[in-house]
Amino acid sequence: MSEFRITGKAKLAGVIGYPVTHSLSPVLHNYWLARHGIDGAYVPLSVAPDAFVIAVKGLQAAGFRGANVTIPHKEAAFAIADEVDPMARIAGSVNTLVFREDGSIHGSSTDGFGYVANLEADGIDVSALASRGPALLLGAGGAARSIATSLLEKGFQVIFSNRTAERADGLAKELDAAWRRNFPEGDAPWLSTIAWDEWEEQLGDMALLVNTTSLGMQGGPAPDWAPNLSKASRHLVASDIVYVPQETPFLKAARELGLTTSGGLGMLLHQARPGFKAWFGADTEVDEATVAYIRAALSRR
Ligand code: ATR
Repeated sequence: MSEFRITGKAKLAGVIGYPVTHSLSPVLHNYWLARHGIDGAYVPLSVAPDAFVIAVKGLQAAGFRGANVTIPHKEAAFAIADEVDPMARIAGSVNTLVFREDGSIHGSSTDGFGYVANLEADGIDVSALASRGPALLLGAGGAARSIATSLLEKGFQVIFSNRTAERADGLAKELDAAWRRNFPEGDAPWLSTIAWDEWEEQLGDMALLVNTTSLGMQGGPAPDWAPNLSKASRHLVASDIVYVPQETPFLKAARELGLTTSGGLGMLLHQARPGFKAWFGADTEVDEATVAYIRAALSRR
């Protein structure tokens, strides 16, 4: 790996969050910058909600090439962008801002892309999976929304199940309306919901199961959470967006049943690739060395 070098011409980007201390993005981007020998830097930017707009304008004025945006700013980032890609428009949130030379701001949502890219990197044929059955998403927050948008794009039927049923119903309705607005000529999306206490019984019909909640997260509300997967078809792909621990109790249970599994760390790494390319001009790979480097960084926390 090249040594870290930075000059007066360095390309600059960062991650805007509040708090931002938990973000792994600075570790990841600076690792890739060093590996590619790029004159650049990526910094954490702690910005309170009422300072978001002024911070973005300031970064633009200071010559930054753009920024990632994390909680609680993803909707504000959507609002500040002059142009957003279709998936971000449907998801209603933006996590990657690119400052263009003409002063305009481009916004995209790369979380869903990262999720799907990680499945593919794990050797899963996503298009084939979509023809095998629906995707069942547990949760109805921002992560569910981004992932559902990308799964719809890949041709999946999407079913939400959430502890608070109204949120799942609301999300399905909103996504349906947003999809039809953005693709008036195309096929209508297939979206529905299942009650939280019924999804385990319905697993036999599903091709893909995604935990988008914080259940199973170390230090979270239910770190030991492991659902009953006994009704799953043997072709079910079980995936989790939680990445601490790297194998959650849910994924362990799925693996022990012989199901194909996909963990959450890869989504985080893959969602970073489009921003890195836009700001620093290089294609990156989420290879074993990258995963090992980030795992080591996580274990030091
Ligand atoms: P994000 O935007 O990151 O997805 P969020 O909006 O806080 O985060 O959503 C968290 C999800 O985890 C929600 O779907 C939440 O369910 P509710 O809508 O019922 O709150 C789900 N969740 C969190 N703790 C849970 C628990 N103990 N049992 C079941 N679901 C839980």
